Amino acid sequence: MPRLSVAFVRAAMLYLLAGFTFGALMLANKGLAFYPTLWRLRPLHIEFLIFGWTLQLIMGVAFWILPRWQDRRGNERIAWLSWLLLNLGILMAVVATIAPDFAPALQLSGRICETAGVLAFALHAWPRIKPLGA
Ligand code: HEM
Repeated sequence: MPRLSVAFVRAAMLYLLAGFTFGALMLANKGLAFYPTLWRLRPLHIEFLIFGWTLQLIMGVAFWILPRWQDRRGNERIAWLSWLLLNLGILMAVVATIAPDFAPALQLSGRICETAGVLAFALHAWPRIKPLGA
């Protein structure tokens, strides 16, 4: 497995752990109502499981298995940039929940980073998407 896929998949698994933990805490709190503040974890639960886990796992595996030229995987720098931007975007969403005064700006910047990350990944992957032998 290439190093970038390792970075994507390991980060994805950390987000899976955190996202499921937050989900389980909210679920328990729904039944037992022991700490209402736990509902504040909801945006992070969604962020971690959709972007941190699902999207990041897809990108990591795609980088690994899309067609290669010999052992080269196209423009790897753009692919690394996509990893950086995606995780920076998620991190901004985390900071937004701890610093409510800056939340709107951080949430917007985070979404811009995530979108740029996805676009960078698409730019990397596009030339690798082709039929066998082409
Ligand atoms: C890949 C897996 C998952 C994804 C993508 C996901 C995504 C979401 C989303 C989008 C919402 C908001 C739903 C809405 O507003 O209608 C949500 C809410 C919630 N999720 Fe998850 N979730 C996942 C797994 C889990 C797990 C494993 C648990 C519990 C152990 C969990 C517990 C909850 C709870 C308690 C809520 C709040 C429900 C409410 O508003 O009443 N989630 N999740």
